[in-house]
Amino acid sequence: MTTALVRRLGLRHPIVQAPMAGGGDTAALVAAVSEAGGLGSIGAAYLAPTEIVARGRAIRALTTRPFAINLFAPSPAPAQPDPSAALAAVAPFYRDLGLPLPEAPGSGGLDFDAQLDAALESGASLFSFTFGLLPDTAMQRIRAKGLLIAGTATTPGEARRLAAAGADIVVTQGGEAGGHRGSFEADQRSHEIGSLALVPQAVDASGLPVIASGGIMDGRGIAAALALGAAAAQLGTAFLVTEEAGIPEAYKAAILAARAEDTRITRAFSGRPARGIANRFMDSVERQPGATLPFPLQNVLTRPLRSAGAKAGRAEVLSLWAGQGLELARRLSAGALVAALAEETRSALERLQALAREA
Ligand SMILES: Cc1cc2nc3c(=O)[nH]c(=O)nc-3n(C[C@H](O)[C@H](O)[C@H](O)COP(=O)(O)O)c2cc1C
Repeated sequence: MTTALVRRLGLRHPIVQAPMAGGGDTAALVAAVSEAGGLGSIGAAYLAPTEIVARGRAIRALTTRPFAINLFAPSPAPAQPDPSAALAAVAPFYRDLGLPLPEAPGSGGLDFDAQLDAALESGASLFSFTFGLLPDTAMQRIRAKGLLIAGTATTPGEARRLAAAGADIVVTQGGEAGGHRGSFEADQRSHEIGSLALVPQAVDASGLPVIASGGIMDGRGIAAALALGAAAAQLGTAFLVTEEAGIPEAYKAAILAARAEDTRITRAFSGRPARGIANRFMDSVERQPGATLPFPLQNVLTRPLRSAGAKAGRAEVLSLWAGQGLELARRLSAGALVAALAEETRSALERLQALAREA
């Protein structure tokens, strides 16, 4: 069960652990997935350059197998809107957790160039990105360092643009996906395109190897992605509940208890559309018009609340990013999950082969 991309990446299975900025993808998780023959990924977007280098070293201490690193494509700083409605909307939650009320966030700007410098020293063999296209200079630097380049597409048009910009691989993000939407053309409507429709259209539009993501939780989903023309599958939510994932226990418990229909797309936590399990914070902020600052300011505004909520085990203030496949989540070690996924994929493909023979 291999594809040209799997061989090129030096993997044993067509399985990628999604980069998950914000703490899910610990060095232990990334290394366990890579050791098991999949591709572990560091979601480095919220890490400082020194943390990126340290994470790479920590992974290298655990495995010599390939891994990926991921950043957010740089975007212009947003205009500073009047923050009063956003401050008022979060205030009751801050009070409830005994936190001092926040001030208007000045900037949430990430220093992309410094992060890229560090990412190129991390030891990763694949560089992936989301939220747009990279500047040409960045593409050239990544290529010069010998890393493969993968960009995220939520529409066939975005896949086409990534191919034109020189990406080696397209990661499709179907509307089922947990976490932030990677959209850069169809911000509002991209989540309406599910993986079943997106993958084959992106394969045809880009002409590149596609890694499918969004709603894939087991070997049936991976086999389906391969049948649609993908070269591998990328799973986020499935890895979030593994033992090695670094999210709070209350978050793991929320995923394991939720129903498929409990997630929705919200801007309430970060200012950018993202899919997560609905909770009290989401409901409350969404009810108040104009109470959400643009990304990344809203992300900065809610960060102390989310950190305190994580320590206190209060899931009602956490951004519970998760995809629509969550009822299939399994609490396993990451290595056991990769082994189960590989075995299930093999048996799903064998079942299809048997059907083909009978036909
Ligand atoms: C908690 C979480 C954090 C994520 N962070 C990132 C990220 O930093 N970069 C990125 O390209 N994708 C990120 N994603 C999206 C994943 O790459 C992927 O598209 C998604 O997890 C696939 O859907 P699934 O969760 O249904 O498997 C994140 C997803 C989750 C659930």
